[in-house]
Amino acid sequence: MGSLDTHPMSFSASPYDKAAFEPLNPEDVRAYLHKAVDFISDYYTTVESMPVLPNVKPGYLQDELSASPPTHSASFDVTMKELRTSVVPGMMHRASPNFFAFFPSTNSAAAIAGDLIASAMNTVGFTWQASPAATQMEVLALDWLTQLLRLPTTFMNHTSTSHGTGGGVILGTTSEAMLVTLVAARDAALRRSGSVGLSHMTRLVVYAADQTHSTFFKACHLAGFDPANIRSIPTGPETNYGLNPTKLLEVMQADVDVGLVPTYVCATVGTTSSNAVDPVGAIANIATMFNAWVHVDAAYAGSTCICPEFRHHLDGIEHVDSISMSPHKWLLTCLDCTCLYVRDAHRLSDSLETNPEYLKNDATESGEVTDLKDMQVGVGRRFRGLKIWMVMRTYGTAKLQEHIRSDVAMAKMFLDFVRADNRFEVVVPRNFALVCFRIKPSGCMTEEDADEANRQLMEKLNKTGKVYLAHTMVGDKFILQFAVGSSLQEERHVKSAWDLIEKTTSTIME
Ligand SMILES: Cc1ncc(COP(=O)(O)O)c(C=O)c1O
Repeated sequence: MGSLDTHPMSFSASPYDKAAFEPLNPEDVRAYLHKAVDFISDYYTTVESMPVLPNVKPGYLQDELSASPPTHSASFDVTMKELRTSVVPGMMHRASPNFFAFFPSTNSAAAIAGDLIASAMNTVGFTWQASPAATQMEVLALDWLTQLLRLPTTFMNHTSTSHGTGGGVILGTTSEAMLVTLVAARDAALRRSGSVGLSHMTRLVVYAADQTHSTFFKACHLAGFDPANIRSIPTGPETNYGLNPTKLLEVMQADVDVGLVPTYVCATVGTTSSNAVDPVGAIANIATMFNAWVHVDAAYAGSTCICPEFRHHLDGIEHVDSISMSPHKWLLTCLDCTCLYVRDAHRLSDSLETNPEYLKNDATESGEVTDLKDMQVGVGRRFRGLKIWMVMRTYGTAKLQEHIRSDVAMAKMFLDFVRADNRFEVVVPRNFALVCFRIKPSGCMTEEDADEANRQLMEKLNKTGKVYLAHTMVGDKFILQFAVGSSLQEERHVKSAWDLIEKTTSTIME
């Protein structure tokens, strides 16, 4: 008989013993995260002095870091050192207060804490049963947000405290919100046509203004709509680049006249190029005549509607089928957090529900709970409700409104600077915190010369590393976008950016 040490059932230490490798050792978790939190806090202290745009060449990281994975362990300090020396210099710092490009991706201590805790718990709340608190927190946070946005109760979930008929879900991106609602609208239209399968697909038509985010056209493609049936309706300065309801009516009627089936209209509140606002109520009235689904994409500007003075942009929302907005853009909640609301939650689950044997459970069978997997593409899902709840719980509505208002006030200040300098023009009215402006043609300068001057201005500004501005084309003109809203931004950053813009313009105009 062998000794205990050599017995196959012996519990003595072996190279494969769990004790030799404990990736979730609580003391290591504490030590690593303290280092990570110190890094984050230092990052926010110093990011202002870092170049907003990195100055690195494609492939630079492969040259700096080992090309093959290490076989042996290293101290976590080595990993953090490589993060500091190789990764940080290659980042575009959206957290910098000198970042004025695109739309801001706002953030806050409460959101980061929520995201960190959600990552630590690693919840996968596909069904209510998989984590009741995760589902209920998401429902609660979404219902709180409907109240901040003063959305009709029809968008709220049916719970013990709210008697809504709708439903909400937190997705990763607006693109996903578009995709799932397009699929639901597609299936509903096919069912109405009595079609089995996709045989009537070629008759279904979708509509949006030409200013709609390009991701809408991608989502239509993914949802199987015929590219020939995707109507991109031209807009112009007469509607400040918003969708003209009369044109929409004409296009929809023309489609019906040839036997096509209007299925879905996407209206945007705050377009990406120029912050145009499509008239939600008028569009909903027209779409209803044709039984088409209306989705409102308020990815960026939706957050402003927590302030009463901006809420009119959603007038008529009670008549639409769905709306999505992204607190990861402007409501101090880190990526990813897109809130999708539908007036009738069943219209999503009718298309997206799955019910495999291994996920069957009493709670689902009871019909009393929401299984959020049935309102999204995937099955697994992050505990995103925690961070948005922590933001609303910690800061309160008044502070969140203050945050939106101060960004808008800074954008107005910038607008006044631009208006006071007659070398510039403001191209479209400012609706939120985005100012679209450009050097205007003067003297013998043509429109093309002005475009070139603006291009040069942007390049020179961005090369300094002191600011980052993006551009767009509106009505064939090259436009600079100045988006206020990065969470660390203060008036002084806007003033020094303007100072730099003025001086750089002088060097170009000379
Ligand atoms: C109005 C609007 N819609 C949609 C999108 C695409 O959003 P996502 O990247 O979340 O899919 C954006 C991105 O900036 C946007 O501004």
